[in-house]
Amino acid sequence: MSRSLFIVGEIGGVEYIMGFASQKTIDQMKLWVPYIVAVISSAVNDLINLGATTLIVPGNYAIGCAPSYMTQFRSNNTADYDMLTGCLKSLNEFSVYHNTMLMKELVKLRLLHPLANIIYADYYGAQSQLYLNKLDFPAPLYACCGGPGPYNVSATISCGAQGSQSCPNPENYVSWDGVHLTEAANHAIANGILYGPFAIPPLLVVA
Ligand SMILES: *[C@@H]1O[C@H](CO)[C@@H](O)[C@H](O)[C@H]1NC(C)=O
Ligand SMILES: *[C@@H]1O[C@H](CO)[C@@H](O)[C@H](O)[C@H]1NC(C)=O
Repeated sequence: MSRSLFIVGEIGGVEYIMGFASQKTIDQMKLWVPYIVAVISSAVNDLINLGATTLIVPGNYAIGCAPSYMTQFRSNNTADYDMLTGCLKSLNEFSVYHNTMLMKELVKLRLLHPLANIIYADYYGAQSQLYLNKLDFPAPLYACCGGPGPYNVSATISCGAQGSQSCPNPENYVSWDGVHLTEAANHAIANGILYGPFAIPPLLVVA
């Protein structure tokens, strides 16, 4: 275990999706965050006690940029959208809320385990860059695969279902199916984790 790299996460994304899908408000969902962070912390703790020494703990994605959330929480109020990225501010603030709490927990874990390398991977930051890169990703808020809808996702026709369509050039999309990222987006995020600046410390420095 001491020679292995452990990736503990990303954890919480699916729980939050389930909560938002059942119409919970952001304030209600914030009550879940300490429980989810505690579970991540206890998993990290257990792995280190079993002999793990190098662990990456990723934060949550920028869910306010996901085409499925952009559709579900669509608003006519331009103030609800981030001017630079076009993403929904309130949901991204929720991701930041989770990530801030997780990072605080990692500070405690590092004090408890000074000999372990506990690396925070900032998926949120790495992903957010992609919405500014219109050269590689001309329409970053649209899904490549899905049914008809404002961001090419549909609540009734999901990617792969009868009647769904997929784009011929997924390498130019950030979102594959409205929820999951494309290989191109994951590739860019992985580079940000390996070489920095989106891992603290950058993975290749530790390894
Ligand atoms: C936005 O405004 C249009 C036209 O007034 C209305 O039909 C639509 O329901 C509104 N959408 C939302 C999400 O409020
Ligand atoms: C959205 O889907 C339509 C129909 O498949 C397609 O013509 C259009 O190019 C898509 N838009 C984007 C930005 O992917």
